[in-house]
Amino acid sequence: MAKRVVLAYSGGLDTSVAVRWLIDEMGVEVIALAADVGQGGGEDFEAVRQRALAAGAVEAVVVDCKAEFAQDYVAPALRANALYEGKYPLVSALSRPVIARHLVAAAREHGADAVAHGCTGKGNDQVRFEVSTRALAPDLEIIAPVRSWGMTREDAILYAYDHNIPITATKEKVYSIDDNLWGRAIECGEMEDPWAIPPPGVWSMTVPTATEARDVVVGFEAGVPVSIDGQAMPLHELVVSLNHTVGSYGWGRIDMVENRRVGIKSRETYECPAALALILAHADLESLTLERDLAREKSRLEPRYAELIYDGLWFSPLKQALDAFIDESQRFVTGDVRLHLEPGSCRVVSRRSDSSLYSYDLATYDAADRFRHEDSAGFVRLWGLSVATWSGRQGPGSESS
Ligand code: ARG
Repeated sequence: MAKRVVLAYSGGLDTSVAVRWLIDEMGVEVIALAADVGQGGGEDFEAVRQRALAAGAVEAVVVDCKAEFAQDYVAPALRANALYEGKYPLVSALSRPVIARHLVAAAREHGADAVAHGCTGKGNDQVRFEVSTRALAPDLEIIAPVRSWGMTREDAILYAYDHNIPITATKEKVYSIDDNLWGRAIECGEMEDPWAIPPPGVWSMTVPTATEARDVVVGFEAGVPVSIDGQAMPLHELVVSLNHTVGSYGWGRIDMVENRRVGIKSRETYECPAALALILAHADLESLTLERDLAREKSRLEPRYAELIYDGLWFSPLKQALDAFIDESQRFVTGDVRLHLEPGSCRVVSRRSDSSLYSYDLATYDAADRFRHEDSAGFVRLWGLSVATWSGRQGPGSESS
C-alpha cells in the first residue's frame, strides 16, 4: 500500500475532494502538483496551491510546463500534422504525457511511491496518465480516486462542504472543460445530444470581434513555427499570440462525434484557432518543400501518429520510431506561409521557401520554360502500354473484332 502520493491537481472540485479522500480513505500523504500548460482561464496558480493545502495536502507545487509543453509535445504533433480522426488536434491528449512526466519527477523528488489523477473511468485521460506513468516509472502505483469512489457530482460537492474543502464549483457548472495553449475542449451539458447546437456561451477563444480582413505570415524552421510577421518568438508565446489573432475572427471551432479509446462515441466541441491555423500553414509549406514520395508516405503515417497520441501511447516504441521518420522529413520544411484572415475564415494564400522544390523553369508556360516536352511522348506511351495491351485483348479495343 502506498504511503505518499503525488496527485495531478487542477484546483477543481474532483481533485480537491480527491486530496481529502486519499488522506481519509487510503491513509496516505498527498503532494498536489498543478501543471501550468497554458490554461486560458487566467488561472491564479497561487490560489490553486493554497486550495490544495487547505484540502489537506502536505505539499503543493506548481510547475510551469508551458515552454516544455510547446517544444517537446506540441511541436512534434504539429510537424506530424496530427489530427485525430482527421479533425481534433489532440489538445488534452498532448498535455497528459507532460503532466505524467512531472508527476513521476515529483514522486522521485519527494520519495512518493504512487501517483494519482482525477479522471473518471469513461474517458481517455485516465488511459494517457496511466500508460505514460507506466512507461516512465513501472514501479509506481497509480491511484484513480474519482474512478473508485462512486460519488456523483452532488455527492462530491456535499463531501467538500462536510470536510471544509474550499471549492469554486457550483451546481450550475454543467460543462467539463479542459484547456491549454493548444486549445480548449468543452464537453457535457446540452451538448451530450449530438443534434443540439452548442449555446454561444460555451465559446471563449473564438468569440468573433475582428471585422477587418488581414494577413499573418508564419515563419517555420525545420517544421517548427518560429516567427509571426517576421518577429521571432518562442513557440509557447507564438501559439498564444496566434490564438488571439485567429480566434478573434471567430475561426477554429470543431464539432465532432469522436471514438474514445474505451469504446464510447462522444460528442465533442473544441476551439483551437492557433492549432488549426498552424497545421494548415505547416502542411502547406510541406507541399512546397517535401519530395512527392516522402510527402505521400508521411501523410499515410500521420493518422497513425495522431492515434498513438490519442490512445495514450506518447511514450512507446512505435511513436519513437515514427518520430525519427518525421524528424528526418522536416529538415527542409523552412520558409514562410501567408494566412489570410476574414471574419469566419482562415486560409493559406501564399508560401515561399529557400528549400522550395517548386521550379519556375519547369512549371512555367512562358518562354523561360525548360521542361523537355519531347520526353513526354515516349513516357506517356509507356505509361499507358499495359492499358493499351489490355484494351486490345480483353477491353473495349477487342470488341470491334
Ligand atoms: N475528448 C478529448 C480527448 O479525449 C478531450 C478530453 C477533455 N478532457 C476533459 N477532462 N474534459 O482528448
